[in-house]
Amino acid sequence: MDKKYKRLTRGDVEFFRELLGNFCLLDDETLQEYGQDETEDLCYLPEVVLKPESVEEISKIAAYCNEQGIALTPGGARTGLSGGMLPVYGGVLLSLERMNRILEIDEKNHQVITEPGVITEVLQNAVKEKGLFYPPDPASRGSCFIGGNVSENSGGPKAVKYGVTKDYVLNLEVVLPTGEVIWTGANVLKNATGYNLTQLLVGSEGTLAIITKIVMRLIPHPTRDLLMLVPFRKAEEACEAVAAIFREGIIPSSLEFMERDALLWTMPFVSGRVINVQDDHEAHLLIEVDGFDQDQLMQDCEKIVPVLEQYDIDEILFAESAKQKEELWQLRRKVGEAVKSHSIYKEEDTVVPRFELPNLLRLVKSLGKKYGFQSVCYGHAGDGNLHVNIIKGDLSDDFWEHGLSEAICELFEGVIAMDGTISGEHGIGLVQKRYMPIAFSEVQLGLMRSIKNSFDPKGILNPGKIFPES
Ligand code: LAC
Ligand code: ZN
Repeated sequence: MDKKYKRLTRGDVEFFRELLGNFCLLDDETLQEYGQDETEDLCYLPEVVLKPESVEEISKIAAYCNEQGIALTPGGARTGLSGGMLPVYGGVLLSLERMNRILEIDEKNHQVITEPGVITEVLQNAVKEKGLFYPPDPASRGSCFIGGNVSENSGGPKAVKYGVTKDYVLNLEVVLPTGEVIWTGANVLKNATGYNLTQLLVGSEGTLAIITKIVMRLIPHPTRDLLMLVPFRKAEEACEAVAAIFREGIIPSSLEFMERDALLWTMPFVSGRVINVQDDHEAHLLIEVDGFDQDQLMQDCEKIVPVLEQYDIDEILFAESAKQKEELWQLRRKVGEAVKSHSIYKEEDTVVPRFELPNLLRLVKSLGKKYGFQSVCYGHAGDGNLHVNIIKGDLSDDFWEHGLSEAICELFEGVIAMDGTISGEHGIGLVQKRYMPIAFSEVQLGLMRSIKNSFDPKGILNPGKIFPES
């Protein structure tokens, strides 16, 4: 769709300068830096970067952009993997990085109230000091912002037992594109009062409103965990073992899958020689159980091991120290980074019902054969969420730009046929929007468009995302 947004004038810049002083930035280096996230090597330059510190400032910026017809894209730590914060129509990039205060840890109610620019791990550590747990932990938790997690409904390895970001968000303060400030719900664990605007905003990728405060529920922090790494000689069997573990009545706190290449490529990114990958190891499962009672965890493992032994596995590695656990987790968390630095790639974030996981892996590999691409798969197997990395390798530029989307369409059609969907946790953003008609009918997309239109009738907020024609 041909969208016309106003290019910034000297007068617009003066308005922003007046409001924010030196936190209105126009230099090339800043524009370049804020024109990228972690999605492939994409870059779209904003015309100005604004770094407000308060909801009042954000409200004034939104009202001004709305009145003037200036594209306004909110951005967090720029760790996203679907291009959700890329300012594709230029205009204002609104960075939430100075909104970085944890406002209250409410120990009486097990809740936290935070601004969006707090790094997720900082929030986790702050609540942990009070014995509390905020579980969603994307691989980028050391650098991503909690506001970005809410916008993308992030998951991570703990989601299989503890749920994703949406399961913790109780209430949001947001600025609407008109500049009006509202709360979406209440700070309560149950809420049957009207439409659930809070959950509508979670995962809306900055297209409906700008999040300025987040109220989240917390749970008691588990005190114990056990971690094991299991080498499988057949990757498909590793996928089959996943549903089998749950059938024993166990809910692991993480159940992660890594194909051979994912591990081999990531080893140089981790200090020490963590593990020995043998020639016949096609894939590994990293399995964690957690809780408060060591005996209970041992019993869980005693149930899991016989399930694993039904498959063709090599020796299981049980992490013996906190250091070893940390190394194994590093190995898992750094896969994305390792793949990115290894080759040009495209990352898909497919998710299917858990039992379909072996079928999903088979489909990916058969498409690889058909279209001639190498793929490296890893991800949150317990959730049926497989990150499929398609490696450019020797593929021609022409195929990469034009032919590959046919393979991705075929992959997504297969995923939908398995009752799955096309993104589990990375969002649609910019790079997946063309595939939305595979996941949704025109009726469904039409409803989503009406919602967008109700919040943002002028279409100024994070334009160019989610909808295929945007
Ligand atoms: C991970 C990110 C890429 O699971 O979602 O490592
Ligand atoms: Zn992931």
